[in-house]
Amino acid sequence: MALQEANWESIHKWLQPKQSEYWVEEPSLTQKVFLKTTAQEVLFGGAAGGGKSSALLMAALQYLDVPSYSAILFRRTYADLSLPGALMDRFREWIAVFDDIHWNANQYTATFPSGARVTFGYLNNSQDYLRYKGSEFQFIGMDEVTEIREADYRYLFSRLRRPSTGPLSQVPLRMRAATNPAPNWVRQRFLVEGSDKGRIFVPSKLTDNPGIDPESYRAGLQELDPVERKRLEFGDW
Ligand SMILES: Nc1ncnc2c1ncn2[C@@H]1O[C@H](COP(=O)(O)OP(=O)(O)OP(=O)(O)O)[C@@H](O)[C@H]1O
Ligand SMILES: [Mg+2]
Repeated sequence: MALQEANWESIHKWLQPKQSEYWVEEPSLTQKVFLKTTAQEVLFGGAAGGGKSSALLMAALQYLDVPSYSAILFRRTYADLSLPGALMDRFREWIAVFDDIHWNANQYTATFPSGARVTFGYLNNSQDYLRYKGSEFQFIGMDEVTEIREADYRYLFSRLRRPSTGPLSQVPLRMRAATNPAPNWVRQRFLVEGSDKGRIFVPSKLTDNPGIDPESYRAGLQELDPVERKRLEFGDW
């Protein structure tokens, strides 16, 4: 019995993703699967409201204990990033409760006590990727990735790097994306070719998210045309 309990405890511990003291929300089971997945390229999502944006923030915030760790989160436009409730706005709310994080409003970069950084960026125009030419990241996250050009997504793999020695060499290189279904390159890359190429898709549903009232969220989807509604409500690609 004692042995069984010990086993459960170790299994439970093994299932836990690397945590961050900066997580404001406790990850749901599907968010934990996303956060625990070790493959280089992972897509999270499907249905609307499944906790995709929060999961990307949580993923970026892992490994902040490693000095020089650098993460970046993208949306297609600056407005998409910064509107109230949007990704960067939510991030700033999350870090506002800590007084030892420095926010640089010109560079959209937060520097943590270890020296690790989380930056926000956008890829609106076809030349915007050039801004990241000299940079190097261990984590690249893209929210609503179906709005982002495939060429930009692929270019950013060249910025996913780490040194061969020192603490940063132990940090996994992670390309992480989230989206609702859309019939474009993302579907091809993950749903069609994914399993042959080691690209992982972690589906999430509205009901997986403990932070949302599913009934009111569902009610808001009733006005959509049937195809869009199936995408957003059921994560149907
Ligand atoms: N694990 C969690 N615990 C508590 N609240 C959560 C959790 N994950 C997400 N939330 C909250 O639920 C709401 C919806 O989550 P989120 O915006 O991450 O979902 P989404 O899948 O990105 O939604 P959308 O499809 O609208 O982009 C947000 O208010 C978010 O803060
Ligand atoms: Mg979102």
